Order: sequence, then structure tokens, then C-alpha cells
Amino acid sequence: MGCTVVENNILEIIRKRSSVRTYADRPLDPEDERQINELLRISNELSGPFGNIPRLELVPVNREKMKTGTYGFVKNYQGLIVGICRNFREEIIDLGYRLEELVLKLTELEIGTCWMAGGLKKFPLQSMIQLKDEEMIAAVVSYGYPEKKRLMEKAIKMLIRSNTRKAWGELFFKGDFSHPIENDDCPQISLCLEAVRLAPSASNRQPWRVVLSDGAAHLYLQHTPALQSERLGHDIQYLDIGIAMCHLQLVCQELGEGGEWYLEDPNIELPNDHIEYIATFRTKQ
Ligand SMILES: Cc1cc2nc3c(=O)[nH]c(=O)nc-3n(C[C@H](O)[C@H](O)[C@H](O)COP(=O)(O)O)c2cc1C
Repeated sequence: MGCTVVENNILEIIRKRSSVRTYADRPLDPEDERQINELLRISNELSGPFGNIPRLELVPVNREKMKTGTYGFVKNYQGLIVGICRNFREEIIDLGYRLEELVLKLTELEIGTCWMAGGLKKFPLQSMIQLKDEEMIAAVVSYGYPEKKRLMEKAIKMLIRSNTRKAWGELFFKGDFSHPIENDDCPQISLCLEAVRLAPSASNRQPWRVVLSDGAAHLYLQHTPALQSERLGHDIQYLDIGIAMCHLQLVCQELGEGGEWYLEDPNIELPNDHIEYIATFRTKQ
């Protein structure tokens, strides 16, 4: 992976980000508009950790008519970034990675965002994007300036408990899955893991698990069977995993611990049948 579009204070930006479903009813300033176009242009030349370059498109919206998501109504957004790839695990993960990097950049610019991957088939979008062979719209990110939250948005956030995150011990382990770690156990990489913990995920399921062993971080996906329905067409939790990979790598980079993703399955005993090894992050020695 060559370069990134986010430059600094990444952990602060990660802490600041939260999904925005109510936007101010005003267009973006021309300078912000220009920056988004430029970011998209750069991003469309960058690959994700598995080497695929996802296609990202900006779509002008007719706000009155857009109704989105299976559990979210997003109001007054000023644009959509549409994430396109083929329905392959690695391509979806790479799309999650690249699109999240844009989300963080927009957060840095004080522009609100919300990921959407549920109910996309209902979008009029399908007719606005020219899909090539095998391509699909895997996710969409709405954006605009954040507005005071509506009652509806507060209700959605409460329903999916979007402000809460699982405890460290449920997500992170040392050696194997029977040894959970607490926040202070490993200060040197605790900030990277915290960045994973704060990531957005579909229905806030937080499906990422990390096992630290042999100086590396092994990343797993704990699948939620209910989210793997035929109706969605693709496994949206691979987007969550790409997002987590993005957070971990960007924070490591900022801490001066450059590193890369490798396929090095440590063959650790898995705690259940729905957990899948994804990749291993190793810092440069
Ligand atoms: C892959 C993905 C798909 C999502 N799909 C939707 C969606 O369809 N509708 C919606 O309102 N929010 C959606 N979200 C936003 C999540 O509900 C939100 O990230 C999660 O509840 C955590 O809240 P936060 O982003 O405010 O931290 C999605 C998030 C991700 C990462």
C-alpha cells in the first residue's frame, strides 16, 4: 500500500467520528467540495491491504427522494460516496479500508458521514451508476455538515446502542482466545487496539477480534449469522474488517510503528464455528 490520504492526529479523529444522520440543509463550501473531489481522485489510485483498488464514485443527490438504510433515515445529506467492487471477500475488505480512510479525512474537515450498507437495493442509485461486469455497490457513505440530532436519529442511536463499545476483554486476547487482555496489559499497542475498538460497524456488531502473539496482531472476524442474509447480497461484515484494518494501520503508522498486513494464520484454536482468520499485522522490525 503506497500512501494514505489522512495525515495527522489520527487517533483524535477516530475518537471524534460518529455517524451523522441529520445534516444541515446547506451545500458544502466550494473548498470542501474541491477537497472531496481531490481525495476521491487520489483514493481511486490506492489499493487496500489485499492489493485491490476499489472504485469510489461521487453522486449528486436529489435529497427529497432519498430514503436510506434498513434502520436509518438520513436527512439532508449533500452527497454520497458510492463504494463499488466485485463480490469477493478481499475486494470488500479493501473497499472498507479505503472508504473508511475517506470517512476519517472528512471527519478531519468537520464534515459528517454515515456508512450505509443495508437496503442499498432500494436506492435509486442503482440506475445512476454504470456497473461493469460483476461489479456491485457494496456500501455508500453520506456526507454533509452535521446538524443538531433529530428525535429519530436519537432513537436509532439508542436502538443500536451506537455509542457503546464492547469491553477490551471481549475483543482482544493474548496467545489464544482463552486469555482476554485488559486495557493496561500491553501499553505499546493499546492505542492501536483502542482505534479498532472505536471503529464503526454494521449494526454496531463490532465483529473484529485480535489475538496478540509472537509480536504480531492476528485479526479475526466473528461473523453475525443474522447479517449474512441473501437479502443483502454480500457479507457486509467484511467492510467492518476493512475499516478495523484501516484504523489499526493508520494509528500504528502515526506512532512511528510502520507495519504491514500478512497472511500468517497462527492456527490458534477457534472459540466457535463463526469466527474466521483474516490477516496478521506485523510492525517493521
Ligand atoms: C458497513 C457498515 C454498514 C452500515 N450500515 C448502516 C445503515 O444501513 N444505516 C445506518 O443508519 N447506519 C449504518 N451504519 C452505521 C452503524 O450503525 C454505526 O457505525 C454504528 O452503530 C456505530 O455508531 P457510530 O458510527 O456512531 O460510532 C453502518 C456502518 C457500517 C460500518
